[in-house]
Amino acid sequence: MNLLPYNPDDTDEIQQLFTRVFSDSEGETEGQVIGNLVYNLMSGTKTQDLYGFVAIENEIIIGSIFFSPLTFKSKDNAFLLSPVAIDTSHQGKGIGQKLINYGINHLKEKGVELIFTYGDPMFYSKVGFSLISEKTIKAPHALTHPEGWLGQSLVDDEIKPITGTSYCVNAFNKSEYW
Ligand SMILES: CC(C)(COP(=O)(O)OP(=O)(O)OC[C@H]1O[C@@H](n2cnc3c(N)ncnc32)[C@H](O)[C@@H]1OP(=O)(O)O)[C@@H](O)C(=O)NCCC(=O)NCCS
Repeated sequence: MNLLPYNPDDTDEIQQLFTRVFSDSEGETEGQVIGNLVYNLMSGTKTQDLYGFVAIENEIIIGSIFFSPLTFKSKDNAFLLSPVAIDTSHQGKGIGQKLINYGINHLKEKGVELIFTYGDPMFYSKVGFSLISEKTIKAPHALTHPEGWLGQSLVDDEIKPITGTSYCVNAFNKSEYW
């Protein structure tokens, strides 16, 4: 298995991976929603703002992850990890954690200081994330599951509070994602 930055030529294959994986885990409607989200993320985000990575086995993409900017009036060195998918038949073998750690290390080398995500704390705690209060960092939209708002600092032991709201890239500007 190889881990590497994604190639925009692989947009269709990556969209299909996300659609398939989320259809399997959450049902066909959610599969379409996440497939479209990933397409919008790849096609509608400035290249220099988007970090995407893939896991490849036998020339087939079996995993993918994206990081896009989460900006604040006072800080612009934070990224949102979302979404991530590992092909259903390859799940539970450690590939998800390897791909996330690979992506995070890449961003760390680029000088990124903070990473946030919105998901299952049981899984993301395995790759360095912990719960953050919205009093510390505000999410860009109202959260249906505040217990899934997670973050990690790549430069400090803990995340220091940032005042004011945060802004995500356009692809995530739908309240249903939050
Ligand atoms: C979540 C996902 C990315 C994890 O990748 P993976 O390669 O299957 O995970 P790993 O093998 O690296 O890690 C497995 C560990 O995480 C846990 N885990 C895996 N998926 C989980 C999930 N959806 N929720 C909670 N825990 C999960 C497992 O219990 C396992 O723990 P253990 O090692 O203590 O047994 C992958 O299962 C997936 O694509 N799921 C469907 C889509 C999804 O839910 N994406 C995340 C939200 S954006």
